[in-house]
Amino acid sequence: MPSFSVRANVIMVETREVGAAILGELEKLAHVCDPGTKVVVIGSSNDITLYREMIRQGVNEYLVAPLNPLQVIEAIASLYHGPATAPIGKVFAFVGARGGTGSSTVAHNTAWSIAEDLLISTTIADLDVPFGTAGLDFNQDMGQGIVEALSSPERLDDMLLDRLLIKHTSRLNLFVAPAQLDREATFSPEAVETVLDIVRQVSPCVIVDVPHVWAPWVKQVLISADEIIVTATPDLASLRNGKNIYDLINQARPNDRPLKVVLNQVGIPRRPEIPVKDFAEAMGAEPALVLPFDPQTFATAGNNGQMVGELNPQSRAAQGFRELAQKLTGREPRSEAKPTNKLSFDFLRRKKA
Ligand SMILES: Nc1ncnc2c1ncn2[C@@H]1O[C@H](COP(=O)(O)OP(=O)(O)OP(=O)(O)O)[C@@H](O)[C@H]1O
Ligand SMILES: [Mg+2]
Repeated sequence: MPSFSVRANVIMVETREVGAAILGELEKLAHVCDPGTKVVVIGSSNDITLYREMIRQGVNEYLVAPLNPLQVIEAIASLYHGPATAPIGKVFAFVGARGGTGSSTVAHNTAWSIAEDLLISTTIADLDVPFGTAGLDFNQDMGQGIVEALSSPERLDDMLLDRLLIKHTSRLNLFVAPAQLDREATFSPEAVETVLDIVRQVSPCVIVDVPHVWAPWVKQVLISADEIIVTATPDLASLRNGKNIYDLINQARPNDRPLKVVLNQVGIPRRPEIPVKDFAEAMGAEPALVLPFDPQTFATAGNNGQMVGELNPQSRAAQGFRELAQKLTGREPRSEAKPTNKLSFDFLRRKKA
């Protein structure tokens, strides 16, 4: 008997054996597998009796070759998708086509609307370490939050996460950036992935404020997000960069939903701009949201440390953010009792498998 044991989450084995011979091979495998390891077998015969026997012996899935990559991905995904599996939150990455388009404003307001209009627990992760505005926008003191998590992601557990997050409302948590220039602002893609994976286990919705820089970790955050929202303004630089990001990321994830485009600050007086229709045509995508330039609303909200939905729920901007929140989550507003100011840490109690 082999003297090693396997601690993988999933083992996928392909066999050329048929019938009962496969069962003999699986028995040997069972001796070296951890009890928690999920096993997927790829075989060549479509044999229902064999299938039943394998499932009885603890195999999680039996697939018949030949397979295409999507079938393999689907099989692995379905192992983790069932009533017994702990739910995992969705990650929405917001990035600007160029600096200053209003990407953070769109991210924070949409997050607020998801939390307060749609009543879904939401966490904002501000990855703009030197210049992030999540703390300012929500009138919350700066903390080390995200930097502490990113610099030692292996230490991040429920307790540390609970300490690092700012509970802005009972449904909205902030992972703010320290806005200090002496802190490291580049991270390994693995560190960012680990932190976001942990956050998504305790928060149904994770809004990532991605700074306008191009680095391996930024690309990785975008590619692995459930949805990407690119905020652009109706000018040439935004169009060129936005189109580059749109094409590159869509190409890298051909089986996912395409990026969503937000066209912001439309209609600045006396500024020539690219008409929305032409912008959409050149991008190859209709904007999911077009927001007018509204300095009165945005500057007042900014100065008050409020979201536009708090300042003026009937404003066009607030309505736009509600629509985007609904598009992203697929949820309609719910008329439950308004949340109290009492802080709730319930969602932080990660379900143990
Ligand atoms: N539709 C709008 N009308 C008027 N002002 C707006 C609008 N959208 C955003 N702003 C303002 O533009 C400024 C820049 O916004 P924000 O910080 O969100 O941009 P950003 O794309 O995240 O910038 P950076 O690249 O620096 O991260 C803020 O003062 C914000 O209030
Ligand atoms: Mg920003």
